[in-house]
Amino acid sequence: MTKKRNKEPQNEMVQVLEHLLANEMALFIKTKNYHWNVVGVHFKPLHEFFDEIAGNTQEVIDEVAERIRALGAFVPASLTLFASQTNLQEEQKTGLKAEKMLENILKDYELIIHSLKEGIEIADDLDDTATEDMLTGFLRDHEKTAWMLRSHLQ
Ligand SMILES: [Fe+2]
Repeated sequence: MTKKRNKEPQNEMVQVLEHLLANEMALFIKTKNYHWNVVGVHFKPLHEFFDEIAGNTQEVIDEVAERIRALGAFVPASLTLFASQTNLQEEQKTGLKAEKMLENILKDYELIIHSLKEGIEIADDLDDTATEDMLTGFLRDHEKTAWMLRSHLQ
């Protein structure tokens, strides 16, 4: 079987997972920010919805980190490192409108969904079935949450 990639395959998979970990950490902090700071007539459902998303990110974070360990690497974990590795934009403001919060989280989800699809292709090329399966599960969950976010905005 010919592989498209042959340079330190495990390393490449770990890099994908480290990037995903940083993005989910950034998403966790942003959804907690919105959980705490959302205001308006839809406060209660949105306060709960943002916390539910934060809870989902925590599950992803732990699973990704432990998959990195299962692949034989350690898990570098610091706020500075996560901030340098994420391509999500951090929320610096408070007092945002609820709709803007939903739009921002949706944008982040779309970005992570795109990265997940790339990660799945890489896992497939490397014949790393377990990581591919894990990422595919995340993709399904992220697409579901993206649908819910989009539905709030329609
Ligand atoms: Fe809370």
